[in-house]
Amino acid sequence: MLLPKFVRMVEVGPRDGLQNEKSMVPTAVKVELVDRLSDAGLSVVEAASFVSPKWVPQMGDSAEVLAGIARKPGVRYAALTPNLKGLEGALAAKADEVAVFGAASESFSRKNINCSIAESLDRFSPVMEQAKAAGVPVRGYVSCVLGCPYEGEIAPRAVADVAERLFAMGCYEISLGDTIGTGTPTKAQAMIAAVAERVPVEKIAVHFHDTYGQALANILAALQMGVAVVDSSVAGLGGCPYAKGASGNVASEDVLYMLNGLGIETGVDLDKLIAAGAFIGDAIGRPTASKVARARGCA
Ligand code: HMG
Ligand code: MG
Repeated sequence: MLLPKFVRMVEVGPRDGLQNEKSMVPTAVKVELVDRLSDAGLSVVEAASFVSPKWVPQMGDSAEVLAGIARKPGVRYAALTPNLKGLEGALAAKADEVAVFGAASESFSRKNINCSIAESLDRFSPVMEQAKAAGVPVRGYVSCVLGCPYEGEIAPRAVADVAERLFAMGCYEISLGDTIGTGTPTKAQAMIAAVAERVPVEKIAVHFHDTYGQALANILAALQMGVAVVDSSVAGLGGCPYAKGASGNVASEDVLYMLNGLGIETGVDLDKLIAAGAFIGDAIGRPTASKVARARGCA
C-alpha cells in the first residue's frame, strides 16, 4: 500500500470543536488547550475564528485567546476569516495563517455565511489580496464535499469547481470537509480524484467528521490517494453549528493512533494529546469521543 511517510496533522479542536459549545468556555481554558496541543507536537493549531459574534458567540474571545497563548516556535496558530473585517481582527491578533471557508453546496453556503457560493468567492478575493500583502498564508476550506444537510448528494465536480477557484485565488492548501460525515471511502476517493485534476494532490487536505463512523476509513482512503494533510479535533470535539447532525470531527487521538500504526510520522506525542483531550473534557464536562482516549482510561 503506497502511503505518505509524513502526515501533517492540523488540529482544529479549539476552533471547530469549541465553536459548537453552548455555554461559554472560559478564555483561560481555551488558552491552556491550545498550549497543550502545541506542546504535544502539533505544528498547526486552529485557535481562533474572526466571525460575527452574533453568529458564533463562542468564538467572540478569539483575540484574547491569541493574545494569551505561549507561542511555540515553529507552530502556526490559525484563524478563520470569512471577510475583510475578520481578516483585520486576525492580523491585529497576529494569527500566523488565516482561512477562508466556502462550500460545495449553495444552501449550506447561505446558511453558514449568508451568501451564495459565487458571492463568497467575491468576498474572499480581497481577503486573499490583503493577507498576501501582510505576508500571511491563507487556507481554503470547502464544506459539504460528500453531502449536504439541505441538498443531500453533492457532485464531485461541484467540489472541484470551488476548490479550483480557491486555489487559483492563492490559497496555499484546500481542506475538503465532509461536514456531515456521510462519506464512505470509495466516494471520498472519487471526490478527491475530481479535485486532484484541478488542484495538486500535495495541496489537498482532508477534514472528516465521524458522524457515521466512517472517518478513519475515509482518511486511509485519502492517504492512499497521496493526501498527506489531515484535519482533526482533539477528543472529537465539535462539528458545525449550521450542519444538523454534524457533531463529531474525527478525534485527533484516533487519527494519530492509526498513523502511528501505519508507521507514518507526524511529530505528535500520543500521551500528551490524550492528556490535552482529557483536560478539555474535564473543563467542559463532556466525555471524550475518542475511542483511543477511552481505551487508555479517559472518561
Ligand atoms: P452577514 O450578516 O451577512 O454580514 O454575515 P454583514 O457583513 O452584513 O454583517 C452583519 C454584522 O456582523 C455586522 O454587525 C458586522 O459588523 C458583523 P452589526 O452592524 O449588525 O452590529 N460582522 C462581523 N463581526 C465580527 N467579525 C466579522 C464580521 N463580519 C461581519 N468577521 C458572516 C456574514 C460571514 C459575517 C456571518 O455569516 C458569519 O459570521 N458566519 C460565520 C459562520 C461560521 O463561523 N461557521 C462555522 C465555521 S465553518 C465550519 O465550521 C466548517 C469547517 O470546519 C469545515 C467542515 O467542518 O466541513 C470550516
Ligand atoms: Mg469540521
